Amino acid sequence: MEVIELKHPLISHKLAILRDKRTGTKEFREIISELSSFLCYEALRDAKLSDVEIETPICKTKGQMLNEDNYAFVPILRAGTGMLDGLISVMPNAKIGHIGMYRNEETLEPVRYYYKVPKDIENREVIVLDPMLATGGSGLDAIESLKKSGAKKIKFLCIIAAPEGIKKIQEKHPDVQIYCTAIDEKLNEIGYIVPGLGDAGDRIFGTK
Ligand code: PRP
Ligand code: URA
Repeated sequence: MEVIELKHPLISHKLAILRDKRTGTKEFREIISELSSFLCYEALRDAKLSDVEIETPICKTKGQMLNEDNYAFVPILRAGTGMLDGLISVMPNAKIGHIGMYRNEETLEPVRYYYKVPKDIENREVIVLDPMLATGGSGLDAIESLKKSGAKKIKFLCIIAAPEGIKKIQEKHPDVQIYCTAIDEKLNEIGYIVPGLGDAGDRIFGTK
C-alpha cells in the first residue's frame, strides 16, 4: 500500500510554520490539531455510509451518514494526544484508546508504560495517531499490540514520516495504511527526522 501524503497549498503553508523553530507552543499545538483534521478527512474517504431520511425546512429528502461507533482513535502518548482534538472535532463520538510509550534515547527502542483500548476494538476501525514516524519502532509496537487486542483494520496518521519508519511498518504490516502531511528526507545520527520539526512532544507541551 502506498503512503498517502496529503498535498495542498494550505498544508504546505501550515507545515512551514510548524517546522520553524521560532513557532511557539500555542501556534504549534493549533497547527498540529488543524493538520490532524485534514488527515482525518482523508482517512475517512472510504467510510461506509448509511442512507437516512431527513426533512429540510423545504421538503423531505435522503441523506447519508456514517456510524461513529465503527471507529476508535488511539493516540501514542505523549505527542499523539496533540493530534486528538483535531480528530474529535471531526468525529466527536469515536471511542478513544491510549498507548503510552517513549523512545529510549540511546537505543531508540520504544518503552511501553501504558495500554488501554476500547474493549470492542475488534469491531472498530482503529486510527493510530502519532505526529512523528521516525525509526518506526513506536508505531510498530503500537500496531502489534493493537492486532494482539483483535484490531483488524488499522490506519496510521502522522504529521511527518521518515522513509526508514515507513519501510519498517510497510515490511511488517503492509495492510496498515499510513497517512502523513510530509515524507521527509532521512533520520540523523540520533534518530531525529531531517528536516523534521524537532521533538514533537516537547514542542506541543512546552517541556524544553
Ligand atoms: C516520539 C514520537 C513517536 C516516536 C517516534 O515520541 O511522538 O512516538 O518518538 O520515534 P520512532 O518512530 O523512532 O519510534 P517520544 O519518544 O519523544 O515520546 P513523547 O511523545 O513522550 O515525547
Ligand atoms: N520524535 C520526535 O519527536 N521527533 C523526531 O524527529 C523523531 C522522533
